[in-house]
Amino acid sequence: MQFTMFQKIGLSVLIFAWLVFGSNFLADKLFTIENTPMETAATETMQEPVAKVTEDVVEEAVVEAVEATVVEAVASGTNGLNALLASADMDFGVKMFKKCKACHTVDKGGKNKVGPNLWNIIDRAQGGVEGFKYSSPMSALSGTWSLEELNTFLTSPSAYVKGTKMMFKGVGDDEDRAALLLYLNQQSDSPIALP
Ligand code: HEC
Repeated sequence: MQFTMFQKIGLSVLIFAWLVFGSNFLADKLFTIENTPMETAATETMQEPVAKVTEDVVEEAVVEAVEATVVEAVASGTNGLNALLASADMDFGVKMFKKCKACHTVDKGGKNKVGPNLWNIIDRAQGGVEGFKYSSPMSALSGTWSLEELNTFLTSPSAYVKGTKMMFKGVGDDEDRAALLLYLNQQSDSPIALP
């Protein structure tokens, strides 16, 4: 059989088209018939572990975050302070008070100097010494100097009372402050019970 050039071209185009569409059709069939159940199975088996892993990772991260917060709270909070007080040294506290002596007396009935007398300071009313002229931000305080409050105040007085006239940068070291608090607690008619 003789084909003209045009017929040949037409035929090849037809064959080519058939091949392309045919294989596409075949692939579609294969995919839909064979792959769909596999795909479903894969989705079922794969998604679960993936979800589980994600859940585990999230859970772990949450647990870690909570633990970190608790550790931090313990270290800086009451429990941490209690632990520091339990191991604090009284003699060291006496030494630490030298930092305060320029401005404060701590003996019973001691006079006010640049700062108020500090006898009975633990659990005393904040800004509560009669006749001492406090700055207005300090006289505006209405709480008491609990160990925790005093601990925070002494870390950085100007951060605790913005605008205080206590010109003292604070005692940055936790153990130093604990020793100081231990000493101050003793300068009282009724020292509070420490852990
Ligand atoms: C340079 C002087 C100066 C030094 C040093 C100083 N203070 Fe003060 N302190 C003051 C003044 C002034 C006030 C009053 C602040 C105000 O009215 O804002 C004050 C207030 C206080 C108060 C609050 C008293 C109350 O009646 O509410 C406490 C507690 C205190 N000082 C403890 C200390 C301790 C402990 C030290 C040593 C670690 C110290 N201060 C070092 C000047 C000083």
